[in-house]
Amino acid sequence: MTKVYAHRGYSGRYPENTMLAFREAAKTGCDGIELDVQLTKDDQLVVIHDESIDRTTDGTGFVRDYTLAELRKFNAAARWDGKFGFEPIPTFEEYCRWAAGEKLTTNVEIKTGVYYYENIEEKTLEMIRAFGLTDRILFSSFNHSSIAILRKLAPEIPCGALVEHEGLGNPGFYCEKHDFQCFHPGWACLPKEDVDSCKAHGIALNVWTVNDMDILERLTDWGVDGVITNFPKVCLAYVRSRG
Ligand code: G3P
Ligand code: MG
Repeated sequence: MTKVYAHRGYSGRYPENTMLAFREAAKTGCDGIELDVQLTKDDQLVVIHDESIDRTTDGTGFVRDYTLAELRKFNAAARWDGKFGFEPIPTFEEYCRWAAGEKLTTNVEIKTGVYYYENIEEKTLEMIRAFGLTDRILFSSFNHSSIAILRKLAPEIPCGALVEHEGLGNPGFYCEKHDFQCFHPGWACLPKEDVDSCKAHGIALNVWTVNDMDILERLTDWGVDGVITNFPKVCLAYVRSRG
């Protein structure tokens, strides 16, 4: 059955990349959660998507220019008209502590595609190991150097190569050649031949961000391994209905 990953938590209904969104995602019974990690000015791992805090919080500026203590004062639920009160930007440690008591898999996206945080791969791995989560992690990154580093540091943890809208031809060969276990394309840049390429090379396919039912139906017909969605409850209901 196609696996369902909650993109930035249950972000279609709750403030993205908050503990609230992660807890609500887990309640749906989805297979996994996708989240994004970055580093603060004082080298602490935090869970946030953009390099700046402007879009999702009541603050402005770059994540890397704030200490953790400063960042924690901003409200990551600020764009939801007060519906969810105050939700801090989670630390990755806080997430790992919670996830250790859950069954789901975490797709940890290393956000090094725009700004390269020094040693973020080592720090992320250290945290995952500290909480005994290694067998329930899937790494990914748009910066394939980051996942190549993680393949060396932790060969027991699978990695997915994320690609943006331009896609990548013959991804199965590419991923096999570089020892990446999964291919993570956006749905709009995934032709059927790329699915065939992945299958031919034994590469798992996890596709983002699948929020439309016609896309979900097509991808399920093609037999992709997983979908990453803002609406895990609806996607789960559909994939379960197909059996
Ligand atoms: O990992 C899937 C998806 O999250 C990649 O894009 O920009 O939402 O992190 P983005
Ligand atoms: Mg992401």
